[in-house]
Amino acid sequence: MTFRTRYTGLIENYRDRLPVSDDTRIISLGEGNTPLIKLNNIPDLLDKKVDLYVKYEGLNPTGSFKDRGMTMAVTKAVEDGAKAIICASTGNTSASAAAYAARAGITAFVLIPDGKIAQGKLAQAMMEGAVILQVKGNFDDGMRLVKEVAKEAPVTIVNSINPYRLQGQKTAAFEIVEELGRAPDFHCLPVGNAGNITAHWIGYSEYACEKGAQATAACAHCNGVCPYATGSIVTTRPKMVGYQASGSAPFLRGEMVDDPETVATAIRIGHPQSWDHAWKVHKESGGWFDECSDEEILAAQKLLAEKEGVFCEPASATSVAGAMRDINSGKIPENSCVVCTLTGHGLKDPDTAIKQSNAPVIAVDAKLEQVKSAILENMTD
Ligand code: F0G
Repeated sequence: MTFRTRYTGLIENYRDRLPVSDDTRIISLGEGNTPLIKLNNIPDLLDKKVDLYVKYEGLNPTGSFKDRGMTMAVTKAVEDGAKAIICASTGNTSASAAAYAARAGITAFVLIPDGKIAQGKLAQAMMEGAVILQVKGNFDDGMRLVKEVAKEAPVTIVNSINPYRLQGQKTAAFEIVEELGRAPDFHCLPVGNAGNITAHWIGYSEYACEKGAQATAACAHCNGVCPYATGSIVTTRPKMVGYQASGSAPFLRGEMVDDPETVATAIRIGHPQSWDHAWKVHKESGGWFDECSDEEILAAQKLLAEKEGVFCEPASATSVAGAMRDINSGKIPENSCVVCTLTGHGLKDPDTAIKQSNAPVIAVDAKLEQVKSAILENMTD
């Protein structure tokens, strides 16, 4: 009998490509190594044939991709002697920050928008012992306050403006390339602050340059013909496609949005923190931004759950909603290899899920006859 090596998180896994030393105490919950699921049933509903994968980041320890960045940000904060971290959040960052702070034995302060955070995320931050400040305002107000207070109080910001966050998050691109044996043609993501789309581009760029071993400033500009790529197995990078919710779509409007609104509360952001980075990714990768209505987002969330058994939160489904539209229109050409990131787990937001589902919940007495007839009436062919 052979035993598998225990997976101990993305920093251990990609140690040579992350800014840690042999002495660094790593704060990890075993994040990363998430499944890349090839969709079986949704492609049959599309007008054109493509290979469509979802990277199910909801299976990270706190249920979102934030854990990839948080293991790095908290590891480095602790290494630098921090006793407290702080973030503004639409929910997932706060859940992740709280968990990694608990693990490290430091304090997490989280600023969340009043009434606009999904229940699961709030429950996580509360249970994980964060100090929660509910701001009478939106995420953008919280972010402004975090930046201001960090100048005056001894707290380390762990939002994605912390460069270690993007370093951790770039590993998702490494995993995809390693699993596919190539970079996809298109990588679709939901966009809020645009930290994640930026991080993926860093990851793909480093991989195309001998997996980051010789990453230099040139990498970000090489377009797959970087001289360092010689001998590496991957020389291409995907077109990066960012989808926003229509009510919170500053990249589509070409300017900041002051009153963002969407059912996808995770991406209810009008002033993206990685604005310049994201435009650079857009230009270098030859990708695009587009928007999805709340109806399209919820329909895609439901389709993923009903047809593939993959339950993600509304914001995450934005990537699939947009990709399906662009595949049908031919903007994403036939036979492309397409990866969509599902950024957070569906259980994060049970209220929205229950509200939009029309699944039959049949009340029965605790009697065999009633259970049996309910089954027979609801059999599908
Ligand atoms: N999807 C989910 C589920 C998110 O929680 C976020 C961001 C995004 C997508 C967008 O990622 O900001 O890197 O473009 N959530 C942050 C938070 C803002 O506070 O949890 P991005």
